[in-house]
Amino acid sequence: MAILVTGGIGYIGSHTCVELLNNGYEVIVMDNLSNGNIISLHRIHELTGNQIKFYNVDLLNRDRLEDIFLENKIDVVVHFAGYKAVGESVEMPLCYYHNNVTGTLILCQVMQKFNVKRMVFSSSATVYSVRGDEPICEEFHLGATNPYGRSKLMVEEIFRDLYASDNNWSICLLRYFNPIGAHPSGRIGEDPNGIPNNLMPYITQVAVGKLKELRVFGNDYPTPDGTGVRDYIHVVDLALGHLKAIEKVKSTIGVEAYNLGTGRGYSVLEMVQAFEKVSAKKIAYNIIGRRPGDVAVCYADPSKAKRELGWVAERGIEEMCSDAWRWQLNNPNGYIEEPPAIIKV
Ligand code: UFG
Repeated sequence: MAILVTGGIGYIGSHTCVELLNNGYEVIVMDNLSNGNIISLHRIHELTGNQIKFYNVDLLNRDRLEDIFLENKIDVVVHFAGYKAVGESVEMPLCYYHNNVTGTLILCQVMQKFNVKRMVFSSSATVYSVRGDEPICEEFHLGATNPYGRSKLMVEEIFRDLYASDNNWSICLLRYFNPIGAHPSGRIGEDPNGIPNNLMPYITQVAVGKLKELRVFGNDYPTPDGTGVRDYIHVVDLALGHLKAIEKVKSTIGVEAYNLGTGRGYSVLEMVQAFEKVSAKKIAYNIIGRRPGDVAVCYADPSKAKRELGWVAERGIEEMCSDAWRWQLNNPNGYIEEPPAIIKV
C-alpha cells in the first residue's frame, strides 16, 4: 500500500511517516522544503531503517505533481502541505489562499486524473467558531477568524462539493487540537522558523536559554487560573490517528471530520508547571495582555474518533513535556547539519 505524504518533511508529517513505515506502508514524500529541513528525512530513515522516496516538488507545480502519480501507484494521499502560521496569514492572506487552497485544488485535480480518490486531510480545530467552554464536537458551529483558518475551512467545503459530484471520493478531515511533544528518540521534533509562535516550543527555548522569558498572553480569562486553556496532544498520538484514518478511507466513501485531541484542557500556567516538573528547569514568565484572536478555552470532544476510527490519545502531559524537552536538548538549534568530525593529524 503506497501513501503519498504531501508536506511529509514537516513536524506532523515526519512523525506520521515514521508510524507509516513502522506499520509496513510504502511512503512517498513530496515537500517543497519551505518550512522543513531535509535532515528530518535522514532521521526518519535512521529511526525506521526504511527508505522514503522523496520529491522536492511544490503542490502548485501541476506538471511535477503529475509525474509523481505517473511514476508511483498511489493508493492514499495524506495531505499536510500548507502554510500554518496564524499571524502571518493575516499579513499575507493571498499567499495563504494561493498555497493552501489553490495547492489543494491542483492536488485534487491530479488525483482525479489518476483515479486516486482517498485522502486524509490535515485540518485544524481553528475551523470551529468557539464561544463557550464546553468540549467541541464535530457538529459545532464552523467559522474561522483568520485567513489560515479560513483556508482550512474552504478546503473542507471543497471536499464536500467534490464528494457530492463524485461519490467515489473518500476523505477524512482530521481537526487537530494543539500538537506538541516529539518522537521519544529525540531525533525528530518541531523546528519552528525564528521565534516560536506556539506555547510549547517557546517554553522549551526558554528552558534551553535561547529565549529570556515566556510571555503569558493574558491572565484574565474566565478559567481557573485566568490563563488560556487548550487541548494539547502528543504528536505521536496524532500521527497514529492518521493511520486509523487511512484504514477508514480505504474501507468507506464520503467526507467525515474527526477531532484529534485528548478531551482534557490545560492552562498556560499548568503547562509551565508540568514542563518544570519533567525538566527540573525554572521557566521565567511575565504576564502580558491577551493576544488578539485567542479564545479562553478550546478542547475536544474526541468521542467520534474513538467510536468510528478506534483511536484514542494515549500519551499524557508529562510524556508530551519530556519528549519535547529531549528533542530541544538534543537539537538546541533544530535540524542543523552536524559539523563533520575534526580529524587530528
Ligand atoms: N501562549 C502564551 N504565550 C506564548 C504562546 C502561547 O501565553 O508565547 C498561550 C496562548 O495565548 C494560548 C496557549 O498558549 O492560550 C496556546 O497557544 P498556541 O499558540 O500554542 O496555540 P493556539 O491554541 O493559539 O493555536 C494552535 C495552532 C493553530 C491552530 C489552533 C487550533 O497554532 O494553528 O491551535 O486550535 F489553529
